[in-house]
Amino acid sequence: MRTDTGQVFRLEDYRPSDYLIPSTGLTFRLSPDNTTVITELAIERRDGVNGTPPLELDGDGLALRRIEIDGKPLEETAYEATPDRLLIHEPPHSGSFHLLIETQIAPARNEALMGLYRSNGVYCTQCEAEGFRRITYFLDRPDILSVYTVRIEARRDEAPLLLSNGNPRERGELADGRHYAVWHDPFPKPSYLFALVAGDLGRVGDSFVTASGRQVELGIYVERGKERLAAYAMDALKRSMRWDEEVFGLEYDLDVFNIVAVSDFNMGAMENKGLNIFNDKYVLADEETATDADFANIEAVIAHEYFHNWTGNRITCRDWFQLCLKEGLTVFRDHEFSADQRSRAVKRIAEVRTLRAHQFPEDQGPLAHPVRPRRYREINNFYTATVYEKGSEVVRMIRTILGAKKFREGMNLYFERHDGDAATVEDFLKVFEDVSGRDLSQFALWYHQAGTPTVVASSSHDARTGEFTLEIEQSVPPTPMESRKRAMHVPLAFGLVGPDGNDIAYTAANGADVEDGIIHLHKRKHMVKFSGIAQRPSISLNRGFSAPVTLSLEQSSTDRAFLARHDSDAFCRWQAFNTLLTETLISAFRSVLGGKQPDFAPDLPQLAGTIAADEELEPAYRALTLTLPGEADMAREIGSNIDPDAIHMAREALLRAIGEANRNLFSELHVKLRVDGPFSPDAASAGRRALRNTMLDYLSALPDGAARAADHFDTATNMTDRIAALTVLAHRHRASDNARNALASFEAKYRGDALVMDKWFQVQASMPGAQAVEVVRALMEHPSFSMANPNRVRSLVGTFASANQTGFHRADGAGYDLFVDAVLAVEKRNPQVAARLATALRSWRSLEPGRQAKAREALLRIGAAKGLSADLRDIVERTLA
Ligand code: PHE
Ligand code: ZN
Repeated sequence: MRTDTGQVFRLEDYRPSDYLIPSTGLTFRLSPDNTTVITELAIERRDGVNGTPPLELDGDGLALRRIEIDGKPLEETAYEATPDRLLIHEPPHSGSFHLLIETQIAPARNEALMGLYRSNGVYCTQCEAEGFRRITYFLDRPDILSVYTVRIEARRDEAPLLLSNGNPRERGELADGRHYAVWHDPFPKPSYLFALVAGDLGRVGDSFVTASGRQVELGIYVERGKERLAAYAMDALKRSMRWDEEVFGLEYDLDVFNIVAVSDFNMGAMENKGLNIFNDKYVLADEETATDADFANIEAVIAHEYFHNWTGNRITCRDWFQLCLKEGLTVFRDHEFSADQRSRAVKRIAEVRTLRAHQFPEDQGPLAHPVRPRRYREINNFYTATVYEKGSEVVRMIRTILGAKKFREGMNLYFERHDGDAATVEDFLKVFEDVSGRDLSQFALWYHQAGTPTVVASSSHDARTGEFTLEIEQSVPPTPMESRKRAMHVPLAFGLVGPDGNDIAYTAANGADVEDGIIHLHKRKHMVKFSGIAQRPSISLNRGFSAPVTLSLEQSSTDRAFLARHDSDAFCRWQAFNTLLTETLISAFRSVLGGKQPDFAPDLPQLAGTIAADEELEPAYRALTLTLPGEADMAREIGSNIDPDAIHMAREALLRAIGEANRNLFSELHVKLRVDGPFSPDAASAGRRALRNTMLDYLSALPDGAARAADHFDTATNMTDRIAALTVLAHRHRASDNARNALASFEAKYRGDALVMDKWFQVQASMPGAQAVEVVRALMEHPSFSMANPNRVRSLVGTFASANQTGFHRADGAGYDLFVDAVLAVEKRNPQVAARLATALRSWRSLEPGRQAKAREALLRIGAAKGLSADLRDIVERTLA
């Protein structure tokens, strides 16, 4: 593992390399402990470079075995090789030469899961961001595009399957039971997109004919015996390929497209050219083992990686500061895909909930950084919600500002102008300026300025003059290393909702650019006056969540309740009710802190009943609306001096109050919504299950709740229902026999299925209350658990630290002790996963003083460990700063 050197990389230091590598040949002689890699590079000095500057190649833990230039071994004085770098003092004066390098690596001992490693006996690679340098010395940076030819040799019995990027070229037999295959990828690509897979895997095959008639062989490779579980992923892949043709005019460009599922993977999946490698949890699914959420995630991740073929691969990033160029844009594309495949309204609400749950706390805490950062110590720590999710929101705003037509023209120009390039955020913005004639320089602040902007708005109506006035003020809070902020261009979609629920037309608007239902804020303060408004409207603001801001809108509960029923914008309708819930929860929290039982006026529970019963609304939408803000959502809204126990009590009290008030209705729905007949993962069926399980959540808090949940569990015919029941049993009735039996029978049934056991770990790791610490400690010894597998670690320790407010933040600090032990144990093998885990403490400063002190101590203890990796040190130091 790379220990920290303290080096900081800065955007302003970007400089093109002196040398280019137009072609790369790789030969792998695979063996678990002793793999030989022969790298043959055609190297050329970049035009305009004077003299013969030294050539410095990146390495990471490498052992050099051989080095030749133009067929001749290099003298020892001509170069310097360390594990981390290869320096050739004086390359040939012609500036054009062949470099041969032989390195030796041990995939079986690679536990960091970067570079070439073994997962379940399968050789696989992970090169983004800087893993290629763990395979061979190279200019391991995204602006070095090279054409790869790859030869793989392995024992046939161990690895009948040999895959790499591009198209297959040749294969054959070798002596001693070995064989080989050669792959050629005609598209120049950066090293981070290189991939190799070799092993014995099952295959699901299909084919796809592109719009222009290219026949593409599709393959999904999974552990033998699990082929059936890849059917949904294959279907999602074909739908993604069609969608990208229809919506963006983008076709696939090789003869084959392969996906391989592996069980040890640091992230979700990887878009290697023509050979995507996936965490198996985003491939394998059937109703017995996967929830509706899993199906939706598989669809989204398959699409995301496929869409990278254009946004990421054909057009890549100049440097890692531009990461959002491929990630934010590709997330935007996968969001749009899912919206088209499912329910757009429901998808949008779910996106906003994710953004608020993950990106907002990041943007509001010590790890805040711009969508395009200007500095980093460890790039692995910048695969963040800000780069991905806020990055996607920024692209969405460009579409909002330009309109769908101009946006598409801009995208077309982007592909036309930059195909084959390693591009920048500036290149991206420029195409939209060029097609629209708009100046996006103020808008560009969304890429450069960190922090979630706050927009405060209030309104007044003058019946006499027919004038409706909106006062709006924006501000961006200070973030690390950025104290002064400039006013942003904030596009706020809005409507003035009249008493009949329809939007009211106005005759004129002054005080801001208002066009097509959007108020464009450009200044800190705007006073927008609408004329021709006879009756006081209810303002519906930030419709569709058009801007990723914290909106604080002064509005009466009556208006909110009205909008919760009548707003034509589904997002704002959801938001109105959600705000009512949040306000009620926060006042209940204050009661609990003051030692009082919270009590609730009847109108909110009544409104919940009205929404639950409204057959005009999609079940999935009703489920989202009736899901109470989570404990972490409440903590974020409260902001400081957090006491997680009081939050938990307040939330449970409101849940009970709503359940009691609607007992009959919710019971009826719980019975009626049961989906009979064959299982289908489609959005409508999933929506019915979601609403029914939301009903169960409420009902489980009532006196006969445990019995009902146990029955729900016993009669479940799919994983979605089973997990919903198991969760309420374990969380609300943990001492009951019902809970114990359900946990035991689930374990007995799924013991052999690691991905399903992850759910069993998650349910218990998120169990509220003090005893969770002991439960998680005990589960760390469970035979299905392993500190070496990222999915296991995330399910048990990750869930505990990020989704168990009361357990993790236990007042005596025992949750933090567990956390420190686990982070340090993981870090020994896998610094990247450890660093990700450590971000769970990023909001430590908003805790009440006692917990705050203990959390700080925990961070200091991690920081004091010897030989800490760059990954973990970076997170700990920024979190404490
Ligand atoms: N580029 C991958 C994606 O977003 C994520 C990833 C990053 C995977 C780094 C592995 C390592 O699709
Ligand atoms: Zn991506």
